[in-house]
Amino acid sequence: MINGERLIERPLRWGMVGGGRTGQVGYKHRTGALRDGTYKLICGAFDLDAARGRDFGVKLGVEADRCYADYKELIAKETAREDGVEVVSIATPNFTHYEITKACLEAGLHVICEKPLFFTVEECDEVAKLAEEKGLIVGVTYGFTGHPLVLQMAAMVKKGMLGDIRIVDMQYTHGFNAGDDVGAGEALKWRTNPTTAGPTFVLGDIGTHLYYLSEVVLPHLKIERLLCDRKAFIPTRAPLEDHATVLMHYDNGARGRLWVSSVNAGNMGSQRYRFVGSKASVEWSDAHPDQLIYEVQGEPNRILHHGMPYLEEESLVADRMGALHTEGLGDSWSNIYLWIAQAIDAKNRGDEAFLKTHHYPGIKAGTEGVRWLENCVSSADAGSAWVDFK
Ligand code: NAI
Repeated sequence: MINGERLIERPLRWGMVGGGRTGQVGYKHRTGALRDGTYKLICGAFDLDAARGRDFGVKLGVEADRCYADYKELIAKETAREDGVEVVSIATPNFTHYEITKACLEAGLHVICEKPLFFTVEECDEVAKLAEEKGLIVGVTYGFTGHPLVLQMAAMVKKGMLGDIRIVDMQYTHGFNAGDDVGAGEALKWRTNPTTAGPTFVLGDIGTHLYYLSEVVLPHLKIERLLCDRKAFIPTRAPLEDHATVLMHYDNGARGRLWVSSVNAGNMGSQRYRFVGSKASVEWSDAHPDQLIYEVQGEPNRILHHGMPYLEEESLVADRMGALHTEGLGDSWSNIYLWIAQAIDAKNRGDEAFLKTHHYPGIKAGTEGVRWLENCVSSADAGSAWVDFK
């Protein structure tokens, strides 16, 4: 169980690019990072609007002269200081991730970047090589996968409690974009423009969460072939999609089905995962994150609760609130940030043995998300044809 005790020697000096006052995801980063004494927020280029960014940063407790106009100034001024920033989180629109990540790594700074990591696998490979050469960590904020019941599902699969995996069924949908884009806010505008969003809208925006979580639960399964059908129900969003279904064939013969949509009018269900094996199934949704449905064929169905001693050790060590008290998204983000802090700390100490077995969403997780998107797009562009997963 995690109780806030600091698990690394000293707090990492942390800065943020983006995630300003009007940003949607910035507070999730701060909620995750500022929980266990592993990070201290000392600087930022929080906003495209420099004055608003400075005002915001000061209200977060950052010194005014360390609230910078942009990431270039942040890197230049912070790397000139002895007590300068060590790790930078990037919570900006997709098209900026590659450029800012590269600049930080080149300056010797660890990076924690939003998903989808970059636009192409080629960019991911280049940055992975750079990080390796520089001895730096790139973490990726797949924020939901720190939940103890996600780890419970992974542990149950590993123990063989479900039997052979046969069916993977995942959904991340909402209806917030069911209407047209007249008067759309900034966050929707950049998401529906290929220049700023990249090759996908909802597939990258929410589908990559599903895909990474399935990789955490089913690390032994690899996709062999995939078919993606995508559509923009609001035509101004084309060529990007506001709705997609993806069918997947795995190398063990399992079948997968994934649905992402931002035009599922009225839906507030968010994410749902069902993993079906030859003996039993598990089902988890972030709408009811404290409960894991466990169904064994021929037996009464069970609901497992987070924090209970009957869960696997892998789940219990990541629990924060204890049974009976809600454990949610903020707790999950805290785990993600903690695991990345431990990775950075180990890298700084040269502890490669620790890194070999330490679980956290790193550059490989980010790259695999981008690879999955590339395959989805090539299938969709070929008229929703089956494509071999490359
Ligand atoms: P947003 O449009 O709501 O906010 C972007 C923020 O970045 C704003 O504060 C803006 O002023 C600032 N910004 C933009 N360009 C900048 C630059 N060059 N330098 C400094 N600041 C800059 O976007 P949102 O929804 O917060 O998304 C940001 C990223 O986070 C995207 O990559 C998105 O896919 C990801 N995201 C991830 C989530 C998760 O659960 N992991 C949830 C929501 C978004």
